[in-house]
Amino acid sequence: MSTPADRSPDSTLAYLREGYRFISTRCERYGSDIFTTRLLLEPTICLRGRPAAMLFYDTERFQRAGAMPKRGQRTLTGVGGMQGLDGPPHADRKAMFMSLMTPSAVRHLGQLFEDEWRARIPAWERSGPVVLFDEVGRMLTRAVCAWAGVPLAEREVARRTGDLHAMIDAPVALGPRHWRGRLARRRGEHWAGDLVERVRRGALPAPAGGALRVIAEHRDGGGRPLPRRVAAVELLNVLRPTVAVDRLVVFAALALHDHPHCRDHVRSGEDATEQFVQEVRRYYPFFPVTAARVRRSFDWQGHHFPQGRRVLLDLYGTNHHPKLWPEPERFRPERFAGWPVDPYAFVPQGGGEHLGGHRCAGEWSTIELMKRAVTLLTTALRYDVPPQDLAVSLRRMPARPPSGFLISDVRRTG
Ligand code: HEM
Repeated sequence: MSTPADRSPDSTLAYLREGYRFISTRCERYGSDIFTTRLLLEPTICLRGRPAAMLFYDTERFQRAGAMPKRGQRTLTGVGGMQGLDGPPHADRKAMFMSLMTPSAVRHLGQLFEDEWRARIPAWERSGPVVLFDEVGRMLTRAVCAWAGVPLAEREVARRTGDLHAMIDAPVALGPRHWRGRLARRRGEHWAGDLVERVRRGALPAPAGGALRVIAEHRDGGGRPLPRRVAAVELLNVLRPTVAVDRLVVFAALALHDHPHCRDHVRSGEDATEQFVQEVRRYYPFFPVTAARVRRSFDWQGHHFPQGRRVLLDLYGTNHHPKLWPEPERFRPERFAGWPVDPYAFVPQGGGEHLGGHRCAGEWSTIELMKRAVTLLTTALRYDVPPQDLAVSLRRMPARPPSGFLISDVRRTG
């Protein structure tokens, strides 16, 4: 069988123009969940859907080394972190990371965030409209630094939050947005590397079990400590994506605004809150794709995968696949009631296994933080949503409402 091919000599500009729908649009055009194209001047295979996700997470067939484009490494992920590792080195690093995510540690992070939030409400009551995205970003920075054992003076909060945001905003951007991300990563790695060194020298006390101490003291399979730069990348792998949860909190606030009946549903109990959070993660755009490379040539369902070829799995497209999700473009939290968890159909933070594979190490903390935020938004405060630009463009990666979600006339209720 021949694999449908995008005819353009290079589709990078089309990808930037079309954003989250780039792969799905072509899958629909070709009537196929697989096609080939050229991106960043390189032949690339694009996939979406459940069978494709099962294939993509087969670590015998795919590797992560060399998969992330350089512009992503220089901004979003850094170099040497677990996203680009395979086999035993990946398993070792992932186990270190997952050891931070015990149920009680995840609850502790949630509690720190909730405490920050409750402490901010009086200031919101006194002030004019507040931008939820900015506020939640700073609260998450304070909470995750406290949780990780990273000292953070109040005067540093805005700058560090800005740098963590800039790293997230940069990988698919052109021009100043991209360069801001590179600068932020350089500054961030310098800061994080310095913290690691001070812990190693005994000059900075860091709580046992916290991310800073665990990363500083981690030894790889050969018994060696992580090089300073790699340890810095891994510490930022905790801080950066935790702050990124602010986008999902804003999407949750937007969903409550657009679907007011969900407020009662959410208040009806923890299961309903979780269903709402899962639907926010499915419905709204965040990570468009994830990338791997073919380890050794093979054929699958009549399609050829040559050794070394870059392959993209469409995460957004799989979460909106009409064969997997009835009425995928409707926001309907109830779809998750009694839904049998399927790690290859629901992939907002990657698919497959957490420990054995590359599924996001922070998925449980993301869910916990979102549940806390949704509960606070529906029970601890009342607010108005003044007129503003809330249109989420699927062409802007990563997406968010342009206004950052303004709330005004905040009153405490709980
Ligand atoms: C804002 C919410 C988040 C989103 C949308 C998200 C999304 C993702 C995605 C798509 C991947 C790649 C999966 C793959 O390549 O197959 C990933 C991996 C990862 N995420 Fe997250 N993530 C989020 C939050 C977090 C948090 C809170 C943490 C840590 C505290 C975290 C740490 C990681 C790490 C370390 C990896 C690499 C895992 C590996 O390669 O084995 N993420 N995430």
